[in-house]
Amino acid sequence: GIDVGGLLKETGHVALDHGFMNTAACESKITFIDGDEGILRYRGYPIEELAEKSTFLEVSYLLIYGELPTAAQQAEFNGKLRMHTLLHEEMRRFFDGFPRDAHPMAVLSSAVSALSTFYQDSLDPFDRDHVEMSTVRLMAKVPTIASYAHKKSIGQPLLYPDNRLGYVEDFLRMTFGVPAQEYEVDPVHAKALDLLFILHADHEQNCSTSTVRLVGSSQANLFASVSAGVNALFGPLHGGANQSVQEMLSEIHRTGGDVEAFVRKVKNKEDGVRLMGFGHRVYKNYDPRAALVKKAAQDVLAKLHKPDPLLDIAMRLEEIALADEYFVSRKLYPNVDFYTGVIYKAMGFPTKMFTVLFALGRLPGWIAQWREMIEDPATKLGRPRQVYVGASRRPYTPIESR
Ligand code: ACO
Repeated sequence: GIDVGGLLKETGHVALDHGFMNTAACESKITFIDGDEGILRYRGYPIEELAEKSTFLEVSYLLIYGELPTAAQQAEFNGKLRMHTLLHEEMRRFFDGFPRDAHPMAVLSSAVSALSTFYQDSLDPFDRDHVEMSTVRLMAKVPTIASYAHKKSIGQPLLYPDNRLGYVEDFLRMTFGVPAQEYEVDPVHAKALDLLFILHADHEQNCSTSTVRLVGSSQANLFASVSAGVNALFGPLHGGANQSVQEMLSEIHRTGGDVEAFVRKVKNKEDGVRLMGFGHRVYKNYDPRAALVKKAAQDVLAKLHKPDPLLDIAMRLEEIALADEYFVSRKLYPNVDFYTGVIYKAMGFPTKMFTVLFALGRLPGWIAQWREMIEDPATKLGRPRQVYVGASRRPYTPIESR
C-alpha cells in the first residue's frame, strides 16, 4: 500500500483519506496554488498582479471564461450583469418571512436556492444558453440578495438596485443607503471591497468549491450547486472564520488585551481554543492573500482615520505566533481571513455579514469551477467510498426483549 506520512492507508481497493488531504477529485485549469512557496495564480496570473491592476469584474470574467476580456467583452459582460440585478418582486417578499435575528448566511443560502424556483428557464446544465443565463443571474442578483439579508437583520426597507452604479458601489449603496436619501459611496470603501473580492474569488478545491462540484456532478443546476457552496462556506473552519476572528479579537480586547495569555491558552489547547485566522490546509509557508489584506487594512484605516485597537491586537498576535515554536513547527501562518474583518468593520459591516462578503467574492470561482466540471467529459458522479467499521452481521432482537 501507499503510505504518505501515515495519512493515506490502503484498505483493499479503497484509499482512506480523511479530509481528502491527498486526493485530487478533478483536473482544473483555473487556479494554481503552491502551498510551500506561497504562490496563488488565477488562470496563470499572479494574485499580486491582479490585486494591483485588475478589478473584481475583470477577474470574474477571467475565471469564468478563461481569458482576460477585451474592452468590448468586458463592457458586454458588465452590461449583462446590470440588466439582471433586480430580484423578482415576489422573491423580495421572501425576506419578510425570515426571523429578524437569522444569520445572513442562512438567508443568503435559502435565497440562492430559491433562484431555481423563480428562474426556471435557466436550469439545464447542458444547455449553453441556460448556463450563461444562470451565470449572469447569479453574478447580478447575489449582491442584491446579500444586501437584503443585511437590511432584513436591521429592520430597514429593501432598496432597488441602481444600475448606473458599479457592481461594488451599488452593493454598498443597497447595504448602507436608506430610501429617499442620497447615499454617497466612499471610494476608499469601494476600492478596498473590490480588492477583497478579488482576493477571495477562487481558491481551487476548497471545501465550498468541492461542494459545488460534488452537488453539480449529480447534474443539479447551477443555482442549487452554488447554494450548497454557500452552506459549506458558513462553517467556522472555512468562510465563517472571518467572523470567528473578529469575535476572538473583540474578546481579547474586552478582557484587557492580554495577547500573551490568549496565545498560551491556544498552545495548551484549553477548551479546544484555536487561533482563528491562522493555519491553512494548503499554505504551509504563508498565505499570499494575507499579506495583501494586512497592507490593505493598514491603508484603509489610515485613509479613513479610523484607528482600531483590534488591528493592533491582530498584529501583536501575528508577531508572537510567528516567533513561537508551537506555530512555527506546525507551519501555522495568518490566512486570508486574519485581517479582513478589520476592514469590513471599518466600512460599517456587522460581524455577521463578514462571511456573506466572502461568499460574494467567491461567487465567480464557484461558477467557473462548476462550468469546468460540467464541460469536462471526464466528470463522473462524485461518490466517495468508505471503510466500514460498524457491527458485523447480527440477528434482529424484538423490542420487548431488548
Ligand atoms: N490554532 C492553533 N492550533 C492550530 C490551528 C490554529 N488555528 N490550526 C491548526 N492547529 C494545530 C492543530 O491543533 C494540530 O496540532 P496537533 O498536531 O498538536 O494536533 C495541527 O496544528 C494540525 O492541524 P489540523 O487541524 O490537522 O490541520 P488542517 O490542515 O486540518 O487545518 C484549518 C486547517 C482547518 C484551516 C486549521 O488550521 C484551523 O482550524 N484554523 C482556524 C480556522 C481558520 O482560520 N479557518 C480558515 C481557513 S482559510 C479559509 O477557509 C479561507
